[in-house]
Amino acid sequence: MTLSPVEQLTSRVYGDSFKLYDIEEFEKFLEPLKVRYQQNNIDPQVFKGKRCLDAGFGSGRGSIFMAQNGASEVVGIDLSEKNVQTAQRWASHYGYSNMKFYQGNLQALAFEDESFDIVWCNGVLHHSDDPNTGLDEISRVLKVGGYMWLYLYGSGGVYWNLVDVIRRELKHTDSMHCLALLLAWQVPYGRVAEYIDDWYVPHCRRYTIADLNEKLVGLGFDDPQCLTGGTPYDTSYKVHVQGQGDLFGEGDLRYFAQRTNNRLDRSIQLPDINEIGSAYQESAITLEFVEKFNVISQLITRFASTYIPEHLFSAQVGGFRSMQMVLRDMMSEPNPFDVNRFNQHLDKIITDLSLD
Ligand SMILES: C[S@@+](CC[C@H](N)C(=O)[O-])C[C@H]1O[C@@H](n2cnc3c(N)ncnc32)[C@H](O)[C@@H]1O
Repeated sequence: MTLSPVEQLTSRVYGDSFKLYDIEEFEKFLEPLKVRYQQNNIDPQVFKGKRCLDAGFGSGRGSIFMAQNGASEVVGIDLSEKNVQTAQRWASHYGYSNMKFYQGNLQALAFEDESFDIVWCNGVLHHSDDPNTGLDEISRVLKVGGYMWLYLYGSGGVYWNLVDVIRRELKHTDSMHCLALLLAWQVPYGRVAEYIDDWYVPHCRRYTIADLNEKLVGLGFDDPQCLTGGTPYDTSYKVHVQGQGDLFGEGDLRYFAQRTNNRLDRSIQLPDINEIGSAYQESAITLEFVEKFNVISQLITRFASTYIPEHLFSAQVGGFRSMQMVLRDMMSEPNPFDVNRFNQHLDKIITDLSLD
């Protein structure tokens, strides 16, 4: 199969990180899927007896989740040949023989129209070369009356702003070099995968609910509703349940949407402003954080270049990892995000790194 240069990189980023998971980390990785179904009152038995497509299956956790809930057949498509091996390993581990994983591109699916009862596409399209064609395709193969589980990144907010600063600084570095460092530091595999994913995947687009809803309606999903329940760190939960839209932008865009008619209007396009998806106006509070992320990034570079130039890269990875870890850990707390505590944390880093 021929992959574009960007797809080759994407496939490498995910192939290398997903193969690392051991059973303990994989079970942990499955957990949020269960929580999201519970918290949004979706009965996971909806998969019972259904033919399901896992579009961009990665490690195969969505496939396992669907099979655990009674899917009669799961077919997976992913760019990465390594992911095919990883997902097959998990299917055998859990004893499922009704799953088939293939290397392929969801932008050109070799399946008949309306040939699946459920399509699962979790965290994939924003990383693909052509999200519009991908969404058209996975809608085409879904039966009218069937459901699509869809997750796309929502625009804006402090998390993506930190990730963007890190992506900019690490742009010309190599994901394998970073992976080696994180593994040598014994960072848990799930976290390694998160950092490599966020920092090195070539496309990392985000959308607004309005833009995505318009596109979904055009593809036959009348009245699509963005899900609001989730784990404490899901930004959709922070925005819609805890009211912190000024910090977390649009929040994660998760849907369990029914295809209610066979409309397939490919002319409605998700925007791609500057190749990052939808345009988004950040809040003043988020912009203040961005300023501090930039200051810290410059200080790390100055600090390392002055004292340990040959270790600039490891200083950057170490510093960025600790910032993202603190942010993620604080987001995982059940209470609303504590802005003051995060500000104090950033101020302390700035003081520590300001040597003169
Ligand atoms: C962030 S991972 C998500 C994996 C999985 N869906 C999950 O939720 O754990 C994104 C996956 O999408 C795959 N991918 C990206 N673009 C794709 C495309 N055009 N066709 C098929 N797979 C694609 C990548 O190889 C990667 O495994």
